[in-house]
Parts: sequence; C-alpha cells; structure tokens
Amino acid sequence: MRALITGTTGFVGQHLASYLINNGIEVWGTTRDYLNEVNLVEGVKIVPVDFENIESLVKVLDDIQPDFIYHLAGQSSVIDSWTDKTATFQSNVNLTLNLLEAVINSEIKGNVKVLTVGSAEEYGGPDEECSPITEDARLKPTSPYGISKATVGMLARHYFIAYGLKIIHVRPFNHIGPGQRVGFVVSDFSNQIVRMERGQQNNVISVGNLSAQRDFTDVRDIVRAYYLLLNREEVTDWGECVNVCSGTATSIQSILDTLLSLSQTNIDVVIDSNKLRPVDTPVFIGDNTKLKKFTSWEPTINLTQTLSDVLKNLRDQ
Ligand code: GDD
Repeated sequence: MRALITGTTGFVGQHLASYLINNGIEVWGTTRDYLNEVNLVEGVKIVPVDFENIESLVKVLDDIQPDFIYHLAGQSSVIDSWTDKTATFQSNVNLTLNLLEAVINSEIKGNVKVLTVGSAEEYGGPDEECSPITEDARLKPTSPYGISKATVGMLARHYFIAYGLKIIHVRPFNHIGPGQRVGFVVSDFSNQIVRMERGQQNNVISVGNLSAQRDFTDVRDIVRAYYLLLNREEVTDWGECVNVCSGTATSIQSILDTLLSLSQTNIDVVIDSNKLRPVDTPVFIGDNTKLKKFTSWEPTINLTQTLSDVLKNLRDQ
C-alpha cells in the first residue's frame, strides 16, 4: 500500500508518516520546504508539487498512484486566521479544491481513498443542547479559520456526490503532543516553562483566555484514527464527516495547572490581553460515537502523559 501525505513535515504530518511507515505503508509526502527537508521522517519520499498547477498535480498522482491521500497541508492556526484571512483561505480552501480536482482527473480517481482535514472550529458556537457536538450539529463557524475548514468539508462532500470520490472529512478537536510549533496553547505554555527552567526567560508565564474548555487528544491517537478511517474493508460511508476527539472537556486553566505541576520552577501567571481573541468559543466537547462505530478507535494516551511528553521533548532539544 502507498500513501501520499500533503504537509508531511508539519506537526500532524510527521506523526502520521511515522505511524504509516511503522504499519508497512510506503509514504510519499509534499512539503512547502523542499530544500531543507526539516522535520522529514526517515523513509518518507518527498515529491515536489505545485498546488497552483492542477495539470502537474495530476501527473504527480499518476506517477505515484497512491492508495490513500491524507490531505493535511494547510493553515492550522485559529489565531493567525484573524490577521491573515486571505492566506488562510488560499491554504485551506484553494489547495483542497486543486487537489480534489486533480484527483478526479487522474488515473487513480476510482480507487484512491482520500481524507480531508476540517476542525471542531467548523461548529463554532454550538447550541447549548448540542454538546457533546455530533456531526449533524449546525455549522456556525465564528473564526475565519473555522469558515475555511467548513468550506473544505463542503468541497469533500461535493466531490463525493458529484464524482463518487471515496472521501472522508474529519473534524479533529484540539490535538497536542511532541513537536507542535508555538502558536497553540500547550506548545505556547510549555515553551515558556522550558525557557524559564533554562534561565532564558524571567519566571512569568504569559497566557490568554484560561476559562475556555477544549476537547484535547494526543496527536498520536489522532493519526491512528486517520489511518483506521481509510484502511477499512467494504466502506459504505464515503462522503461522511467524522469527529476525531476524546469526548471530554478540559479547561485551559487546568492545562496550565498540570504543566506548572510538572516543573520544579516557581512561576507566576500573567494574562496578556493581546492573546485574547475577538471570538473564542467557551466550550468544545466532541461526540466520537461515529468514529467508534466506523472503526475500533479508542484514545490511549492520557492528558498528563501527553503534557509530560511535550515538556520532555522540549527539554531534550
Ligand atoms: N494559542 C494559545 N496561546 N491559546 C491560548 C493561550 C495561549 O497562550 N492562552 C489561552 N489560550 C486559549 C485560546 O484562547 C483557546 O480558547 C484555547 O486556548 C485553545 O487555543 P489553541 O491551542 O490555539 O487551539 P484552537 O482551539 O484555537 O485550535 C486548535 O484546535 C482546532 C480544533 O478544535 C488547532 O489545533 C486547530 O488547528 C484545530 O482545528
């Protein structure tokens, strides 16, 4: 079996590539940074791709003939989407559109299985009575990022209905783990803590909204769900959206408290108003019933273990 991962050197891409290779799948990958090959997992074959050029994309697909395409490339930061809306739409919507257009014009269109990545942000501020959020909750995205990912989901559905593409659109909730770049809550907090432990920053951690609650899952569990969703026999549910989440909510305050308890350093907390967002959904809890119905997936890594692995990974660098 052969997989193509777009965005293979990104946070999730690296973990997915390792997982697939460990499961005997040949992995090809695209990355924005062909020359440096930073964060490239050993064994991944990099293929240069121009996402603006559909014809060249078709050629890449015909050459590689992947059985699976995991479309992870995109702009993944909610907060950045407020300041760079155009780039967010270009990265998330246009890239997906060109890729799917290339797939239906390629030799592999009848066989390949495709996974597009959406987000819990597609749901936006869900109705109180619809929590945990199921896949049929009304989409009311409140961030530019959420709107872009809802559009990706609609494109996935469109290519299934119009062209019979074997496609699943996942809606992951917050995923965390070793290797996540700064800009996300756990990596932001952890990086500061490790800098303080090294004496590179004074002992004051700067944080944003601590009252929000999010449904966190370890990235290593997330990529296993992606693998299981495409690697099934006799699938009858192509075109569906599937939540990938733990089903429990944790407050950002509690994430902070756990990270602080995992460090020996005495740290003061200060709220930085620049880190507060124009709109920040108070609570996200996902319902993972559908994922569990489609696959044998269960999360296996608990939150404290993930947070401790994140700190260890940073301390080891
Ligand atoms: N980034 C960040 N940094 N967030 C903070 C901070 C901080 O210092 N302090 C508090 N927060 C709060 C945010 O306001 C938000 O309520 C919550 O922590 C989570 O923020 P992020 O980690 O930036 O994640 P996100 O929820 O905006 O988006 C993540 O989850 C989505 C799925 O729910 C990303 O991984 C997206 O790519 C993903 O689609």
